[in-house]
Amino acid sequence: PPLQPFAIRFGADNGTLEPQGPTLQRRMSDLEGLFADRRAWEQAVADGDPVVYTVVSSPVPEAARELPQSITTIFPGDTGGEFWMTKGHQHPDPQGEIYLGLEGRGGLLLFDGDRAEWLDISPGVIGYIPPGWAHRSVNVGDEPYRFLAVYPGSAGHDYGWVLTHGMGLRARRAETEATVGAETEATV
Ligand code: 6PG
Ligand code: NI
Repeated sequence: PPLQPFAIRFGADNGTLEPQGPTLQRRMSDLEGLFADRRAWEQAVADGDPVVYTVVSSPVPEAARELPQSITTIFPGDTGGEFWMTKGHQHPDPQGEIYLGLEGRGGLLLFDGDRAEWLDISPGVIGYIPPGWAHRSVNVGDEPYRFLAVYPGSAGHDYGWVLTHGMGLRARRAETEATVGAETEATV
């Protein structure tokens, strides 16, 4: 049955939603094959397997014509110099998505398989993800980075695409200013 109109209260201090739907935590061990420095990743997994990010969703279902939202919080850190980040994905049914920066300093890495783009995202900035662009979020600051995502409910999530194609660029602590360096494929 269709949802009734409803308001969602955002807890600005702790990133919760009320009412709230599914939540998930991604630990370092969930990010296998994504950091360029595999040994540093293995070490981080062995060394407590920290939570890298959390996602809380509103109760809007991921179904056709619905418009779900979620809030992602990426904790600060780096693995082998590469800033902590989300797994990144493609939407198998290519549709646009918007992000709104809420807290901290981050970025949106976009890759269409050919061109890579970097958008700085901070509180008050809206990042637009066009259909067909894989996207990954990165915390480039020293505090939690938090943003709201709004996306079509039928878009789906393909995580394998990023494992196969990469994201074109990597965001490293060592780099200044743009913080984004050229992709170097992981050597195992
Ligand atoms: C989405 C959004 C966003 C994303 C999270 C976690 O399509 O749902 O892009 O909510 O899922 O930021 O990132 P990963 O899905 O890549 O783990
Ligand atoms: Ni998405």
